[in-house]
Amino acid sequence: MLTRVDIYNIRNLEAVRLHDLGRVCVLFGENGSGKTSVLEAIHMLSLARSFRASSARSVIRHGESHCTVYGEVSHGGGAVRALGVQRERSGMAMLKVAGRPVRNVSGLVAELPVLVINADSFQLLVGAPAARRRFLDWGVFHVEHEFFAAWQRFQRCIKQRNTLLRRDKLQTEELDAWTHDLALAGERLTMCRHRYFEQLVPVFHEVAEKLVPECGSLALRFRQGWDATLSYAEALKASTASDRDQGYTHVGPQRAEIIVTVDGHSAADTLSRGQQKLVVCALKLAQGYVLKQQDRSMTCAYLIDDLPSELDAGHTRRVCAQLEALGAQVFITCIAEDAIAGMWPAAAAPPQLFHVEQGQVTSVGRANPGAPAPSIADSENDA
Ligand SMILES: Nc1ncnc2c1ncn2[C@@H]1O[C@H](COP(=O)(O)OP(=O)(O)OP(=O)(O)O)[C@@H](O)[C@H]1O
Ligand SMILES: [Mg+2]
Repeated sequence: MLTRVDIYNIRNLEAVRLHDLGRVCVLFGENGSGKTSVLEAIHMLSLARSFRASSARSVIRHGESHCTVYGEVSHGGGAVRALGVQRERSGMAMLKVAGRPVRNVSGLVAELPVLVINADSFQLLVGAPAARRRFLDWGVFHVEHEFFAAWQRFQRCIKQRNTLLRRDKLQTEELDAWTHDLALAGERLTMCRHRYFEQLVPVFHEVAEKLVPECGSLALRFRQGWDATLSYAEALKASTASDRDQGYTHVGPQRAEIIVTVDGHSAADTLSRGQQKLVVCALKLAQGYVLKQQDRSMTCAYLIDDLPSELDAGHTRRVCAQLEALGAQVFITCIAEDAIAGMWPAAAAPPQLFHVEQGQVTSVGRANPGAPAPSIADSENDA
């Protein structure tokens, strides 16, 4: 659990220090006060980048040369691990775990896995397959320990193979060697994806049934990126001629896809905007559950920007109840003080409230435990 975060020069947050963070933190305040920027800072601590800007430049406070986020993650039993990230306008990043520099973001992300749910999250359903591959690989990375090495190997092999395919004079022996390595890495990576997907599906169904029982029959299908009746080596062999013609590798894990359907129809084309958000919440909650199943001491932190938007009160309560049941740490933003606090299950510990105002964040204690209880229909679903 992230127990402390110090933020310097991220957007309108000049110096914000949040200590003694609890499991459920609600950040409320007016438009432009800095709520999303706090989530961005926590995301930076996990992945060294923002979730809403591709360059560090736009995140760094105007007029400053760099931004810094420092955090402490408690691993229980008094063990605390310090994380630090500094980004410069040039794009340079300095990452530290327990005071030691780390070269790769993978070292950082393993310490503090975060999942974002925001206004763009519906892209997971309606966007390009790459968004669903990223979603899948987030989970595979945290659950399947051999995945990252296979993924790195695969990226190297496909890059080399595509370079060779584009050469005027084809060096067949070299191409065969890289194709062989590519097939091995691709099979290994895909096996990890398959195993993770098998774990994810039943959990997703359970969560979706609680969040959107009215939605019809939701189904997830995994497409591995080549004809499933062939080995990857066979599929690569079969596509060699077209790969040579067009100068790139047509088949493989780089084309993998998750298909989401409702009553046999594309979920992206069928579901309402609010239902899409709920299905995305179910997918991301399922990832949190699978992570916890894998290692009971391991959970991820949820960064949820403006949860109430597009959701009615009943569905907002159901999402809150599921987040509470999972037991993961949650940072939620909203405009009004009671927008989330009033929706959180009455039986649970009340959320910790933070008022965000013109780049300043003030802890205002716990929400009133006397918040209205969910209606009977919601309680039934929550149960
Ligand atoms: N690089 C920057 N330097 C300084 N200020 C910035 C920078 N980028 C954005 N801002 C300002 O930071 C403020 C915080 O934005 P943020 O998106 O965090 O607000 P918010 O509280 O989430 O608002 P909303 O409720 O509208 O989503 C905004 O007023 C914005 O104009
Ligand atoms: Mg915002």
